[in-house]
Amino acid sequence: MKQKVSDEERHVFLKTIAQCLHDAFPRYDWVGFYFVDPMKKDELVLGPYVGALTGHVRIPFGKGICGQAAVTHKTFVVDDVSKEENYLSCSVNVKSEIVIPLMKHGEFVGEIDIDSHTPHAFSEEDRVFLEHVAQMIATIV
Ligand code: SME
Repeated sequence: MKQKVSDEERHVFLKTIAQCLHDAFPRYDWVGFYFVDPMKKDELVLGPYVGALTGHVRIPFGKGICGQAAVTHKTFVVDDVSKEENYLSCSVNVKSEIVIPLMKHGEFVGEIDIDSHTPHAFSEEDRVFLEHVAQMIATIV
């Protein structure tokens, strides 16, 4: 029988994944999750994360890197955030970013967001690896 995961279990699971990614990859300075707000459907809400505090608790679809990935459902790699016009800055230390959509049964449900203090921090290998992680997470959340 399929058992429902409680909100607390989900939070601990996601926070643990974020912590593992953050600790395993020195270039991953901020690792977190955004999820589609079930009430609004066109806004992301911040989930568990590891790294500096962020003021971006809610992000409308289309806004910033996260909001754009929410519209395209495609991984968004930014090698140099200073060159992005549609970007929401969390800290002056952030130089590059990757956002990987979480697709569940073909539906966009949220995303993994990773910021780095190193420019060009995310290679093709990172992208492939993180897309696998995202697939695994999407089956559980
Ligand atoms: N930089 C993101 C905002 C979220 S923070 O990185 C935590 C963006 O442009 O969407």
